[in-house]
Order: sequence, then structure tokens, then C-alpha cells
Amino acid sequence: QEFDMQVEELEKGGYEHFMLKEIHQQPQTLADCMRGRLSLEAPYVKLGGVDEYEKTISNAKRFIIAACGTSWHAGLIGEYLFEDLARIPVEVEYASELRYRNPIIQEGDVVIALSQSGETADTLAALELAKDKGAMLYGVVNAVGSSIARLTDAGSYIHAGPEIGVASTKAFTGQVALLTMMAISLGYKRGRIPNSYFHKLISELHNIPAKIERALRCEEQIKYIAKEIKDRQNALYLGRGFNFPVALEGALKLKEISYIHAEGYPAAEMKHGPIALIDEEMPVIVIATNRSAYDKVVSNIQEVKARKGMVIAVVTEGEKTISEMADYTIEIPDTEEPLTPLLSVIPLQLLSYHIAVMRGCNVDQPRNLAKSVTVE
Ligand code: G6P
Repeated sequence: QEFDMQVEELEKGGYEHFMLKEIHQQPQTLADCMRGRLSLEAPYVKLGGVDEYEKTISNAKRFIIAACGTSWHAGLIGEYLFEDLARIPVEVEYASELRYRNPIIQEGDVVIALSQSGETADTLAALELAKDKGAMLYGVVNAVGSSIARLTDAGSYIHAGPEIGVASTKAFTGQVALLTMMAISLGYKRGRIPNSYFHKLISELHNIPAKIERALRCEEQIKYIAKEIKDRQNALYLGRGFNFPVALEGALKLKEISYIHAEGYPAAEMKHGPIALIDEEMPVIVIATNRSAYDKVVSNIQEVKARKGMVIAVVTEGEKTISEMADYTIEIPDTEEPLTPLLSVIPLQLLSYHIAVMRGCNVDQPRNLAKSVTVE
């Protein structure tokens, strides 16, 4: 047993927990995910699986994305990406719901399954159903040779390496990076992205690992904020557009490992319910890096402050207006708007991690949760 513990310590590579190691690995895992698939010189985006089924995928009437948990959040970002960059209609479905509905899936539809483990029972069952109905199946998977990888017609591995922490971090950013590459490639092939924007997106994507490295430098500040909110009972996460799914993911990370009740909301929906909960006890984490709808996010923050809520804002480096209004601001590097989730999720992962550690929780193996859910 002592030997096993020594092996585990070695595997953690000097980090206290696997989750922290995996958070810090992200510059590397994203570089691995993009290696050989992205070229700045040519420039190109090449995804083996997409190229092989090019006609089917690029003529798809619509994409249906099926997933569970954190992978479902990555799927929601996929919807924004495919719509914005490739102009392909997308539906994002909880696999567990899709499989028990009487869904309209037809030939010409492409079903994209997102799964870290490649073994999630509901996702597998949804794929089998879609296959019977004649859809083409595409897998975006981390675990090589897993059931979902084998069942799908084509796919792309995210190459994040083994993820041990139950709360998914590097697999999430890997999935989002992969979907981003798919959307850019399809958008370009379908003539929906002009040349100059194509170049810009590729070079920005290429810079993402270095920018994640920079985003990770907020850790000391995050520890300070974590101390301030670790004893709260609830937290609210708000984001708009590409940052709305990030708000959902931030809230999920917090509840999974720290057992604090947290909800993610599209910022503008706050007035339709959650605003009733805001008082001095409620920390509100606002992801406010959007260039579009910036003023609206500013007024959401004013609404929270007017009710004495505590605002923790994730902003773009150099931002002034929001920084003056918020109780705490965390800066992340600027990038093209469709790529922001890859950066804005980083401080939220760190925040949930440090809160959980301060609360004495078992970060890598939270109660009642499993890394891979192979039963219903
Ligand atoms: C479990 C894990 C989550 C994961 C979800 C989907 O709930 O705890 O971290 O997001 O399953 O798993 P998958 O392997 O399909 O991505």
C-alpha cells in the first residue's frame, strides 16, 4: 500500500491533488490537442475524421450534440461556435433525455457525442438510437479505444491524457478546443469565414496555450478570493453568449467539489428569478469579457451591487469600468470572442479548487460522484 501511495505521489508530479495538476497541465494538453491539426504558415485546420467524412459533415442539415455533465457544457459552447462560425444549425441534448424521447433524427443529421471517458451509458445509448435512425456519428473523446470511440463512424481524440480528478478540467478545454477547430474548418470550407478572419482565428488559437499560462497566474489572487467566499452557502455564476456555458460550468465545478450550492445563469435571465436571492450573503461571479453586450453586463453588475451582493468579475486585461464596480476582479488575456471560453473557465476551475481545499473536501474524489458513469 505504501508503494501505491508513492506511485500516486509521483503521478501527481508535485501537486497536492490530481485536479490541480490537471488544471495546470492545460497549456500542454491544448498544445497536444492542436498539434498537427493547425498550421499557422499554410494556414490550415486539419481534422482526420472531418476530412474523411467531409461531404457528409459539411452538407449536414444539422448537428445534434449529445453529452452529459461537463461534456454537455462543452457541447453548448459548440452550439455557439457552429452557429457563429459555420452557420450550421445545432441542437445540444442531454444524452439521458435524448435516448428516452421520440427524437426527430434523420439521415443527413450528424450526431456529435462528447465524452471524456467514452463510456458514459446514457451517451452510448443515445448514439445507438441515432445510429438506428440513420444519422452519422462523430465522437469527440479523450479515452482512446473506448466504447464511444469504437461505436462512432468517425471522430477526433482530444489527447488530454488520463484525467484522474473526478471534476473534469483539461478534458473540458480539450473538447472546446476540438469543437473550435471543427467550427473554423467547416466555416472556412463552407465559405462562411473570410480569409482574413480565418487567419486571425488560427493564429489566436495557436496563442491559446500561452494565454492559458498567463491566465493561471491569477492563482494567488484566487486563493484570496476563495478565503472570502468559502463559508457562503450559495453562489451565482453569470455569463452571456459564449460565456453563458462557462457560467454553468463554473457553478458545476463549485458544487461538485466544495458542496456549495451554485447556479449558472445567462446574465440577462437574472431578473427573471435569481435576483430575488441576492443580498449581502450572495457572491455573484460574473464572466464579463464579452465585447458584444458589454454594456448589458455592466448593468447586470450594477443591479447586483444595488442589492449588496458581492461581485467577483472575470474581465479582460486592462479593463477599467467593471474593475471599479466589482469587489474583486480577475484578469484574463484578450482573445477573439469565440475563443474566450478557453480562457475564462481557468479562474473558475481554480476558484472551485481552492474553495474545496479550504473547506477540507476530498477534491479528487468528491462524495457520491464517479469519474465515469457506466450505469443509468
Ligand atoms: C460524470 C463525471 C463528469 C463528466 C460526466 C460525463 O458525471 O463526474 O466529470 O463530465 O460524467 O462524462 P464523460 O466521460 O461522458 O465526459
